[in-house]
Amino acid sequence: EKGGHPHYMLKEIYEQPRVLENTLGGRLHEEHANVELDLNLDPARYDRVHVIACGTAYYAGWVGKYLIESLARIPVEIDVASEYRYRDPVVDGRTLAVAISQSGETIDTLEALREAKRKGAGTLGVINAKGSSITREVDDTLYIHAGPEIGVASTKAYMAMLGAMAMLAVWLGRARGTLAEADAKEFLGELRKLPRLVEQALEQRAHVAHIAEKYHQAADYLFLGRHIQAPTAYEGALKLKEISYIHAEAYPAGEMKHGPIALIDERLPVVVLTTDSPFYEKTLSNIQEVRARGGRVIAVATEGDSEARRFAQDVIYVPRTHHLLAPVVSVVPLQLLAYETAVLLGRDVDQPRNLAKSVTVE
Ligand code: M6R
Repeated sequence: EKGGHPHYMLKEIYEQPRVLENTLGGRLHEEHANVELDLNLDPARYDRVHVIACGTAYYAGWVGKYLIESLARIPVEIDVASEYRYRDPVVDGRTLAVAISQSGETIDTLEALREAKRKGAGTLGVINAKGSSITREVDDTLYIHAGPEIGVASTKAYMAMLGAMAMLAVWLGRARGTLAEADAKEFLGELRKLPRLVEQALEQRAHVAHIAEKYHQAADYLFLGRHIQAPTAYEGALKLKEISYIHAEAYPAGEMKHGPIALIDERLPVVVLTTDSPFYEKTLSNIQEVRARGGRVIAVATEGDSEARRFAQDVIYVPRTHHLLAPVVSVVPLQLLAYETAVLLGRDVDQPRNLAKSVTVE
């Protein structure tokens, strides 16, 4: 049932191109310069978005914040669900609360959503599990269609959530008139190419396994990324700590000099997301800062980039895409790095200690 793979996690990592096709399938309509999401909510009604989620779903929401703010120019607040509930959030009828969850059963997310609803928000679930608790309480559900996910470490559901958030951003942007027709068409074209690009990203497995081998004895790992790649850094660190039990920390790249730079020495592997973007040069200079202090840099860069190689000990290349979609291709090597490291350390990849697939206690 693992399709010839030794673990569900690996099977699910390899399913990602097909999963993304399912998420996007039939919903992208370049001819109308829009997506068809089959939602009853009125996208023109909302002037702020509150994203509520936990763990990996939270990082997908964080990517979604950049997408929605860029394409739809609506302010997006994002909270981990367990914080949202208790901060007495400012909500009104023009607030759209978006709960993101693979299981649809996470109690913190459900309770936070109830809080938003009580305060008058419109509610949308971005959910994988059909008919789950959250889907029964929201005004509308955007299913991500990832199929059942067995591995406790979420991979393909994250990928599908990213696809769903990108479509949501287009939907809001078109309704509000902030996303021009030509730009929408171009962006949809880029979305359509993603499954194929994720397939290409998977081809880096042997190279990533080699890097994992080099560093699997490390006591700590640092992950850095800027703008929309900051959440990718956090997701990479979460994957690694969940299944390998190596302590891993993530920071927005620019924050490094405000403290974490003190950690850097020749024993610390630092994964830096430095894919093409308007902030590329800034992140490259962060790599130089790490290098100058003896740190070991593993760069995740865009294919064809020759600069990163000059400063990083290892470079993992990912295919070129729209810079707002770079998280989709870049998370793949980070999932593989966590997986290969955990296997080398003899960990129980699919059932890491102390964790459950769905967290239904507060
Ligand atoms: O089912 P959910 O998406 O609501 O779950 C949220 C988190 O518990 C989940 O993403 C958790 O962080 C995973 N183990 C991450 O790999």
